[in-house]
Amino acid sequence: MPTACSTRSPARRSAEPIAAAALAVLTAAAAMPARADGLVAYRIVDAAIPASLTGQPGDATRGRAIVANRQIGLCVLCHSGPFPELRFHSDLAPDLTGIGNRMSEGELRLRVVDASHANPQTIMPSYYRVDGLTRVTPALRGKPLLDAGQIEDVVAYLKTLKE
Ligand code: HEC
Repeated sequence: MPTACSTRSPARRSAEPIAAAALAVLTAAAAMPARADGLVAYRIVDAAIPASLTGQPGDATRGRAIVANRQIGLCVLCHSGPFPELRFHSDLAPDLTGIGNRMSEGELRLRVVDASHANPQTIMPSYYRVDGLTRVTPALRGKPLLDAGQIEDVVAYLKTLKE
């Protein structure tokens, strides 16, 4: 019956984007299974994490804001770098200027995710780890210092630091 067809077809059309979105979510979830601790699983290959934790590239502008911020990233408590707006510069850790030349994207990601992989005695926090950490305040227990999206933003920014 033509009338029934014409009333049903718009409904069928509008379900298509929903089905496509659901499929995209399921596919992403299958590619990035959540671990028991709620963090995104990642694979370390040759001292690097080659794949984005979110499946997407990060945003370098947001990453710079995280790195240069003394409350969120804390990076500048230890690192100096191309941050002319900051009044004092720390030299506890290597200068980040040119780090995009010295380390690959995957090496940068692993360094920020888990600095103890490169140096078990490091003073640098592991930003995407919740296990094996001591001295964590109760409010932060069970939460990584940065979430997966923030890690990707920081990596995107560090990649731009070329000389
Ligand atoms: C408490 C001090 C501290 C903080 C905070 C810190 N780092 Fe580090 N970082 C270090 C030290 C020290 C090293 C040198 C290697 C080592 O001892 O682990 C290092 C090494 C690195 C390296 C490798 C540098 C090289 O030239 O080999 C990168 C990249 C890096 N840090 C990025 C960051 C970023 C991004 C942040 C913030 C999200 C950060 N760090 C926060 C102390 C710190």
